[in-house]
Amino acid sequence: MSRIGLDRRAFIASALALAASGCATPAPGPPPSPPEPAVDLEARPPLREVAAARGLFYGASAISTVLDRDPAFAAAFARECGLLVPDYEAKWDQIQPAPGLFDFSKVNRLVEFARAHGMLFRGHALLWHHQVPSWLPPALASEDPRNILEAHVRRVVEQYRGAVHSWDVVNEAVELNDGRSDGLRNSLWLKSVGPGYLDLAFRVAHEADPGARLSYNDYGLDHAEVWNVRKRVAVLELLRDLRGRDVPIDALGLQAHLTAGLPFDGAGLRAFIRAVAALGLEVYVTELDVIDARLPDDGTRDAKVARLVGDYLGAVLAEPAVKGVITWGLSDKYSWLNSPSAPEARRGDGKPVRGLPLDPEMRRTAMWKALADSLGTRVIGYNSDGRAAPDRQG
Ligand code: XIL
Repeated sequence: MSRIGLDRRAFIASALALAASGCATPAPGPPPSPPEPAVDLEARPPLREVAAARGLFYGASAISTVLDRDPAFAAAFARECGLLVPDYEAKWDQIQPAPGLFDFSKVNRLVEFARAHGMLFRGHALLWHHQVPSWLPPALASEDPRNILEAHVRRVVEQYRGAVHSWDVVNEAVELNDGRSDGLRNSLWLKSVGPGYLDLAFRVAHEADPGARLSYNDYGLDHAEVWNVRKRVAVLELLRDLRGRDVPIDALGLQAHLTAGLPFDGAGLRAFIRAVAALGLEVYVTELDVIDARLPDDGTRDAKVARLVGDYLGAVLAEPAVKGVITWGLSDKYSWLNSPSAPEARRGDGKPVRGLPLDPEMRRTAMWKALADSLGTRVIGYNSDGRAAPDRQG
């Protein structure tokens, strides 16, 4: 927005405030003080500290080779993040590239980085329908698929027993377009093991590491399009069924790949989060970023992205069940939204997406400010009935 726009808005605001105070024409007095200098974002405390002060975690996904080859990124990650989740290194095609051959080297690098910087470590994802090694589908068809599933989950979770805050045990299992009455995606897991694959995965993961929180993670739950609302219903039913069978599940992961320009209804999302919480589950924002492809590159898109993030986090962080926020990536320099993996995020003008807290030069963006402001205004404690307890710092 142009400077004039901002001044005009400031003028309108002050005029309205003055009118409301009953003295539309200000009494003569000292000249107005100069406008406050814009707070230097770089001087503000890091996101991990702002979050921790409010009883939350903030972190991001990271790629092990990027941490190794980009010192500026590694330093920014260490500064801002209190949690690390592997971008792709803990997925099946990386960690079991051949039957019975487990390669933990890349994940170990990330666990070491997290440990060295006092971060929580999050595992992602034990079962997904993407990043599946080529050997797996034929093996699931020719051997006992339950044994294959159990062996992978047990071996991987045991490898990091005691070191993991939470695991995404199953990722993106709901796909209403597949037409099943239970809303499940017709994935290789469903086809080989049947709907019980979720129960099996969670039970084995819990046996392998009883101390890790186990979550179901999915996308498309955040906006107010009809399909989003229908997916919330299906996910809630899935969670209710899992809890009804005493499946050891602790949390729902809201991926929160937001799209600027889509309708957002904070009240509706909060009602969904409360319904999930009523099942005894925590909620994590697990992959927050913003697709800005619908926004013209006219100098306003960063502010619009920040506004959406502020609206979104203002809603979800008002719910006590929400325990933390993770962005999918930290800097636009390495955003997956600018990779071939996310064709739906591509901008028509071919310009890079700007949907993360740091720009390519590791400078804090307007989205960073929206994140910091939202995390910083979260009420510190909530009573058992979910009402906001007085702020202990107040
Ligand atoms: C993406 C990674 O960022 C890419 O590097 C990889 O090639 C594909 O997967 N939802 C998820 C994540 O749960 O695992 C995906 O991560 C992004 C969408």
